[in-house]
Amino acid sequence: MGIPLSISSDLELDLEDIIGQCIAILGIRGSGKSNTAGVIFEELLRNNYPLSIIDIDGEYFGLKEKYEVLVVGRGEGVEIEVDENCAQEIAQISMEKNVPVVVDLSGFLSDERTAFLQEYLTALWNLAGKLRHPYIIGIEEAHEFIPQGVKTELKELIARVALRGRKRGLGAIVISQRSAKVDKDVLSQAGMLFLHRVVHEVDMRVYSELLPWRKAETKEIVTALSTGECVYLNGDNVIPIYVRERETFHAGFTPSLEVVVTPELKQVSQAIIEAIEHAKVGKGKKTRIDQLEEQLAHLESEAMKKDETIARLEGIARTLGYIKVEVPKPSYPDVQNISKAIVHSVEHPGAAKNTSPSYSIRRVARRGRDSSPSTSLGVIDINPLAVPAPVASADESASLPDAVMRHIERIVGRAARKSILHRRILGFVLGHAPISYSADQIAAWTNCARGVIDNDPPRDFLDMGLMVRERRSGKMHYHSSLKDFVSREFGLYQPDIAHSDLHRIMDLLRARLVELAQQ
Ligand SMILES: Nc1ncnc2c1ncn2[C@@H]1O[C@H](COP(=O)(O)OP(=O)(O)OP(=O)(O)O)[C@@H](O)[C@H]1O
Ligand SMILES: [Mg+2]
Repeated sequence: MGIPLSISSDLELDLEDIIGQCIAILGIRGSGKSNTAGVIFEELLRNNYPLSIIDIDGEYFGLKEKYEVLVVGRGEGVEIEVDENCAQEIAQISMEKNVPVVVDLSGFLSDERTAFLQEYLTALWNLAGKLRHPYIIGIEEAHEFIPQGVKTELKELIARVALRGRKRGLGAIVISQRSAKVDKDVLSQAGMLFLHRVVHEVDMRVYSELLPWRKAETKEIVTALSTGECVYLNGDNVIPIYVRERETFHAGFTPSLEVVVTPELKQVSQAIIEAIEHAKVGKGKKTRIDQLEEQLAHLESEAMKKDETIARLEGIARTLGYIKVEVPKPSYPDVQNISKAIVHSVEHPGAAKNTSPSYSIRRVARRGRDSSPSTSLGVIDINPLAVPAPVASADESASLPDAVMRHIERIVGRAARKSILHRRILGFVLGHAPISYSADQIAAWTNCARGVIDNDPPRDFLDMGLMVRERRSGKMHYHSSLKDFVSREFGLYQPDIAHSDLHRIMDLLRARLVELAQQ
């Protein structure tokens, strides 16, 4: 006789049925997927079944209300903040010591998430090969990591667990609101499915392929499902069921007017916390050395830049020796304001009354066929960083969801920690989007020496996906990829986000990042 799991009064399921299983939980937003996953996790935890939950929205820390679960990562309910440097140790502690772990990735940027998961899942896979005892990995928003039709290292890792984990006792629970976007191979290998309500035709098509009913029948049954109801599918067993409500706090509940009190949470043993803190410190030391090396490289590049600037200024000083400038005496003493006003009226004809806060003086350039700035002759920029800063209106952020604003701050915070050279390059490229500029052109406009950008390219921002680099006619060119970046980073928080909101996020983020270039 097996150990029964209490998931639904309509369903008889034993713990043994779960071992090495690939389980898919699908359905539209708010259909009850995370609740169903939470119920399965509760049942597993009640039976001391070891597991990891990859939590994108910080929804699962509430499991600690009843069970000893370790919550790591970066987010609201996290006990120990960690990054990918500790991923291996955490995987090891979880699998070897049977410690259930929630990996809260809600505070990570997408590249950090990928780095963490790659380390973490590789470690779990390898350990499972040695230990061969039951273990399950739950993955929220699985379409982000195992997208249909796209090949990534992380996808291969997760697909491997889903398709070949059984022999190692390794199972997977993939949860997604985008049925059609989840890798078909993984879905077809899922031995157990909880199919919540869907409405879109593309998702309905996926359900039709999975369910043994006629198309019209599938549509009729599936669209009639209400929150918490789903079609359970396991081989020949196909039944509509109602999944019970989670016993533990569900941080992803749909907000209502009732006051929500975060429950008291259990702690995993102090020894485990200490073991991770210890691993973290060890990694921290390594990171410190890396940091110092980075700092040294940065200072060297700054010193080089300064030498180049001195040489350039000496050149300008020599040139100025040949130029005679006659300035008519102003009728009042505020010379600076007058020059600002003149520049502004040249740059903004018809707006002569306003002065521009950031200004540049240029001799009108003769332009070749290529009208990019470095081909213009005789350009002298007094403030070459005065990129056409996008105007972010004061209410740009109004009504953007808190999660979105927090994520914007995270991105800006991360960018602010990068070197000034890289921030300038980013500011220039974003401020001049969508045009692509060569490294030399950017160097000229951001007041740094030729070659500096080639020696110290803005790898961090390229890796983040804020800009793109490509070789053209033997030279490196850079252009903004802010649009793709924003759709990727923010689509996750609001998959149904409106186009206009994405534009507002883009404008706001561009303004903030351009501002960083001028600090
Ligand atoms: N079986 C259930 N019984 C009662 N309430 C439920 C049940 N399932 C879900 N709910 C409630 O419905 C709301 C949405 O549920 P849930 O967060 O699980 O949906 P979801 O499909 O995961 O949504 P999303 O795609 O936005 O993550 C929550 O407030 C949850 O508490
Ligand atoms: Mg959910």
